[in-house]
Amino acid sequence: MSREEKPIYITQPTLPALEEFMPYLQQIWDNKILTNGGPFHRQLEQALADYLGVKYISLFSNGTLALMTALQSLRITGEVITSPYSFVATAHSLLWNGIKPVFVDIAPQTFNLDPAKIEAAITPQTTAIMPVHCYGRPCDVAAIEEIAANYGLKVIYDAAHAFGVNYQGNSLLTHGDLSVLSFHATKVFNTFEGGAIVCSDAKTKRHIDHLKNFGFIDEVTVVAAGINGKMSEINAAFGLLQLKNIDAALDQRTQVAHRYREQLAAIAGIDCPPDAPDAVANHSYFPILVQPDYPLSRDVLFEALRQSGIIARRYFYPLISDFPMYRNMPSAARANLPLAGKMADRVICLPIYPELQAVQQDRIVEVIRLARSVTTPS
Ligand SMILES: Cc1ncc(COP(=O)(O)O)c(C=O)c1O
Repeated sequence: MSREEKPIYITQPTLPALEEFMPYLQQIWDNKILTNGGPFHRQLEQALADYLGVKYISLFSNGTLALMTALQSLRITGEVITSPYSFVATAHSLLWNGIKPVFVDIAPQTFNLDPAKIEAAITPQTTAIMPVHCYGRPCDVAAIEEIAANYGLKVIYDAAHAFGVNYQGNSLLTHGDLSVLSFHATKVFNTFEGGAIVCSDAKTKRHIDHLKNFGFIDEVTVVAAGINGKMSEINAAFGLLQLKNIDAALDQRTQVAHRYREQLAAIAGIDCPPDAPDAVANHSYFPILVQPDYPLSRDVLFEALRQSGIIARRYFYPLISDFPMYRNMPSAARANLPLAGKMADRVICLPIYPELQAVQQDRIVEVIRLARSVTTPS
């Protein structure tokens, strides 16, 4: 990396001009409502439901609390079938609820739970499936929901990556009993920190809203052992402003993804999984697979990128099932998860964000094209 070249990180949050945020802050300072479902919170819930094409949204302070509350709201217990190829929060939300995660392998086309392997993992203790729309790529929702219906299981999608993804003409978030979003700084749509539960009926939303506010339904009545999961007014106001720019941000991501695809097509040993059929993607991540016919191993290429100032990430390596709190579970055995293991050993997610410049992309592709081995600094 030459001196004038700045590091290129896996992502960079999209921020509006600071002046644009000032009127929102002024309003908060004027009305002195900082949280507890204030006006910005209510506006953002409605604006997001309209934008995403879903019925009801409950805002949270982050996606992990939203996942944990989603499980509580459906009173999930026992065992839940989930994907090892995800961010740890997916399985952690189960452990925090005293639920045992049961890992099932992923399918090659989707990177998501393989429906053909779910039934074999169902036991009398299984109460739900928690699939992940990894990288925003749709799960095989029809097959998953058919299994769930046959066995009387609930489906909670970890849709942390799936903001704005459409599938077969509708929002991907309309599937399952609940879908959970993350608005973390690294996500396509961010509110600094934040998250949401999407549901399809008013009664469920009311219940979720009670749970995220300690279980209060009014000043003197507590109906459940709830938690504090509420999004603050400052985050909600910021979300409203972010929403104004989201279409442009998604378009820019699409352009970045197309450019990578064109440029990387000519490099033997580097696979770019095609966009999912029938889906409008959000290009939240740009995964490549480093195949055996590429001259360097995945880890050597990852290090070569790093030495050139390109901070890519190996999402999702290690697998969740390889972390200490999971690895002794029978379902966590690598032999049970061959495809997830293969993906985890080959994947690199390249930098992608709306402001990523063509010259920066050229720099990234050039490192991959040159495929030199890494030199240890002297
Ligand atoms: C798949 C997945 N699930 C859950 C989460 C947790 O979301 P948050 O960071 O908003 O708590 C994340 C991201 O951070 C994620 O990538």
